[in-house]
Amino acid sequence: MELIRTVDAMQAHADAARAEEKTLALVPTLGALHEGHLALVRTALEEADHVTVSVFVNPTQFGPEEDYDDYPRDLEGDRDTLEALDVDAMFAPSVEEMYPYVNDAALPGPLAWVSVEHLDEHLCGAYREGHFRGVTTVVTKLLHACKPDVAVFGEKDAQQYVIIQRLVEDLLFDIDIIGVPTVREPDGLARSSRNAYLDPDEREQATVLYDAVTAAEDAIRGGEQEAQAVVRAMENKLAAPDADVQYAEVVDANTLQPADHLAPGQEVLAAVAVFFGDTRLIDNTFVEVPRA
Ligand code: PAJ
Repeated sequence: MELIRTVDAMQAHADAARAEEKTLALVPTLGALHEGHLALVRTALEEADHVTVSVFVNPTQFGPEEDYDDYPRDLEGDRDTLEALDVDAMFAPSVEEMYPYVNDAALPGPLAWVSVEHLDEHLCGAYREGHFRGVTTVVTKLLHACKPDVAVFGEKDAQQYVIIQRLVEDLLFDIDIIGVPTVREPDGLARSSRNAYLDPDEREQATVLYDAVTAAEDAIRGGEQEAQAVVRAMENKLAAPDADVQYAEVVDANTLQPADHLAPGQEVLAAVAVFFGDTRLIDNTFVEVPRA
């Protein structure tokens, strides 16, 4: 596996693979890789001849009060993990490489941003101002640097997944976006780098997020057609002593706008965000409303 640090070297690497008529896949990550990420990597290995995994803790998607400085970083560990999986390239640029004008005294960059309107108005976007603009901007840059035919994302971050799909459609990127279902711990908790912040008591309680999205699935599949009733079913499950619920919502899976009366055949997204102390966890599920 090649460890690549610069955009020029990454583009040259991709061009060389393309010259050999290989198909290319990219798995963008923030690093500190866990089983959730590895499911994406395995999908990428099935989908393409050549796989690049990017590891970049992107400052522009973290708010000023968020955990950018404390976000777990383990470049050596990630390198060993990817090497063992037969990944072809790990792209791990510095902040200065990805944002060349970040330290410019006169006009600190970036000045060019990519944003997808409206899809960030609810769910996480309502509470993390500028987050999705940071994500869509860095993903655009990673796609330009790594030149893949396909890029793989997790449904764990469902709003991000929907926004990225719309980004490539609206801006005519010639790239297929592939989604991978959420990878969970045996007790249902979605795998996340942030799970490491939980103390044992919080860790035990954190299964309520999975209980909540499962309750939403059961209610919708059982014929519930009022979004408010589905939300109440989720909130009931989230009543753990240390769970501080940020949101429990049901939205249309395409527009990400709040659902009200659920229509037969409609695809919806039921989603929750919960704090345990300073640790913010999310979970969600896509559900089709039964037709009859
Ligand atoms: P990160 O949180 O590192 O996640 C990288 C990818 O792994 C995302 O597509 C995410 O949805 C997926 N993922 C994380 N946990 C998962 C799980 N338990 N099951 C399935 N997939 C999972 O998401 C980001 O990084 C960043 O926003 C990024 C897209 C890299 C842009 O900076």
